[in-house]
Amino acid sequence: MPKYKIATLPGDGIGVEVMEAAKIVLEKLALDAEYIHGDVGWEFWCKEGNPLPDRTLTLLENTDCCLFGAITSKPKEEAQAELSPHLKEKGLSYRSPIVRLRQELNLRTNLRPCKAYPGNPLNYRDDIDLVVFRENTEDLYSGVEYHPVPKEVRDILDQTHPRMGRFKEVPNEDMAISLRIVTKKGCENIIRDAFEYAASQNRKSVTVVEKPNVLRETSGMMVRTAREIAKEYRNVELWETNIDAMCMWLVKNPEDYGVLVTSNMFGDIVSDLCAQLVGGLGFASSGNIGDDYALFEPTHGSAPKYAGQYKVNPTAMLLATKLMLDWLGEKERAENLEAAIALAIKVGKVRTYDMGGSSTTLEVAQEVANKL
Ligand code: IPM
Ligand code: MG
Repeated sequence: MPKYKIATLPGDGIGVEVMEAAKIVLEKLALDAEYIHGDVGWEFWCKEGNPLPDRTLTLLENTDCCLFGAITSKPKEEAQAELSPHLKEKGLSYRSPIVRLRQELNLRTNLRPCKAYPGNPLNYRDDIDLVVFRENTEDLYSGVEYHPVPKEVRDILDQTHPRMGRFKEVPNEDMAISLRIVTKKGCENIIRDAFEYAASQNRKSVTVVEKPNVLRETSGMMVRTAREIAKEYRNVELWETNIDAMCMWLVKNPEDYGVLVTSNMFGDIVSDLCAQLVGGLGFASSGNIGDDYALFEPTHGSAPKYAGQYKVNPTAMLLATKLMLDWLGEKERAENLEAAIALAIKVGKVRTYDMGGSSTTLEVAQEVANKL
C-alpha cells in the first residue's frame, strides 16, 4: 500500500492544467502516494446544484491531504442563470467550495509565502521574503449575511446600537449586512502559528496587520491577543500596523517585513499585494492547514480566459506542491523541489507568457522535473 493517499481536485479552467503540471514533478520525485481524483467546481454547480458534492467531502475524509487546482465563482444572478433547468426552482444558492472546505474541515490557517526567486524578471525587488498567515475560517467570510435584513435583527440592532438610528428610514430590502465574526480561539491559533513559524525560521519579527482604531472589537481582539502571545517569544518582536498603512509600507519597503499575521479578509487582500511583489499570482501558493488535515492550492483563480491553452505559469501550483511535501514531513523532497523551481527560474530558458516567454505550462513543469 502506498505511504500516502492524496486527493487531487483540479476544479475549473486552468486548475486542470496546473494539476497536470504538479503530477509531472510528483512523479519525478517518486513520492510513494496514491492520487485520487475528486469532483469540484462550476460544472457540478450547473449539473447537480452543488459545486462541492458530498462524495468529494467523503473522499477528503479518507485521504491524508488534498491538492487543489482552482475554481470559478460567479455573482448570484449569473450563478442562478447557469443552473440546469430542473434545478432552477429549488432555491439553491452558490457558495464558494474553497471557502466551504476551509470552514467545514476547519483548515484554520492559510499560509501564503511570497518569496522573490533570483532571476525572476517580474520581481518588484529581489530581497523580498514574506509569509502571510491569514486566518481562514472566520471574519467577514463566515457566511453570516442578511438581505433583506429580518425585522428581528433590525429590532435587536436598534436596541443595542444607537448608531443604527441614522438607518431608520432604510427599508429592510434596501439593506444588507455581513457579519465580521472573530473568536478569541481563532485569534490565538493564527497568531501562535505565525510566532511558531517565525521562531523556527529565525525571523526577527511578526507584524499583526489589523485596523483596531476603527474595528475596535474584532481587530482589537486580534491585536490584544497578539500582545499576549508575543510575551512567550523572546526572540521575535511584535510589530503592529494598520492594514491601510501596511499596503503602503509593502510598496515602499517590502524588504523590512517577514511574517505578517492577519484576519481572513485583510489576509485575502494583502496576500494578493504580496504576490504581486514577487511576480504575481503565478508565483503565489497557499497551504490551508488544520489540526490533522491540509489542502494545498495556488492562490490564483481558474482564469477562464486562458482555459484550455496550457499557457499559464504553473509555478504557484508547484510551490503549493512543495508546501504539501513540507506538511507531510517530506523535507528533503520539499527542499529539492523548491531548489529545482528556483534554478529553473534563474536559468530562465523555459518561461511562460507572464515572464515574457512562450513556453507552455507543461514545458515549465518538465523543466523543473529535469532539474530535480
Ligand atoms: C483566495 C481567493 C478566495 C478567497 C476566493 C476564490 C473565494 O481569493 O484564496 O485568496 O477569497 O479566499
Ligand atoms: Mg484571494
